[in-house]
Amino acid sequence: SGPELAALVAGGTVDVQDFPKPGIVFKDLMPFFGDGPAFKRVIDGIVTHYGPGSFDVVAGVEARGFVLAAAIAYATGVGVVPVRKAGKLPRPAFSATYALEYGEATLEVHEGAFVPGQRVLVVDDVLATGGTAGATMDLVEQAGGVVSGFTVLMELGFLKGRERLGPRTVHALLTV
Ligand code: PRP
Repeated sequence: SGPELAALVAGGTVDVQDFPKPGIVFKDLMPFFGDGPAFKRVIDGIVTHYGPGSFDVVAGVEARGFVLAAAIAYATGVGVVPVRKAGKLPRPAFSATYALEYGEATLEVHEGAFVPGQRVLVVDDVLATGGTAGATMDLVEQAGGVVSGFTVLMELGFLKGRERLGPRTVHALLTV
C-alpha cells in the first residue's frame, strides 16, 4: 500500500547535515537501497502503480536513478536509458543545464536513445527543486521519447519542485 511503501523509504533514509554544502540537509537513501526486502517491495510497488505494459523503456537519472531504473526494467522486461551528467556519453547527445538546490548541473542523453514515440518511465531517487526532473523530461522529449511518468522515492515538498514541472505529473512514494 502507499503508506507502507512510504514508511519503507522513510525508514531507510538518513538526514545528513551540511552535505554537500553548509546549510543543506542531504537525504541519504543508501540504507534503503541496502535493504533487500524494502527495495524489492518498493520496486514492485512502482511497477504496480504504473501497471503492466504502460511504458516501453525506463530512463534513470545519474546516479541513484540508475539503480532504480535497472530494477524496474528487469522486473518488467524493458530496457534502460541512462540520463547522464555532462561529458560521460560517447556519442552526440542532447544536453540541458539547470539550477540545483546546490549549484548547477548539466544532464545529457544520446541522440536516438529512444525509438520515436517510445513511452518512457523516468525515475530518480529524490525530487528537490525539480530542476533535474524538468531537464530530464525535456531531454527525453528532445530525444523522441514520450514521458509516460516520472517517479521518485522521495519528494521534498517544501522546495516546491512539483510546481516547476507544469502539467507533467510526478509520482512520489514519500513526501517530506
Ligand atoms: C540529487 C537527486 C536528484 C536531484 C534532485 O542528485 O538524486 O537527481 O539531486 O534535485 P533537484 O530536484 O533540485 O534537481 P545529485 O545532484 O546529488 O547527483 P547524484 O545522484 O549523481 O549524486
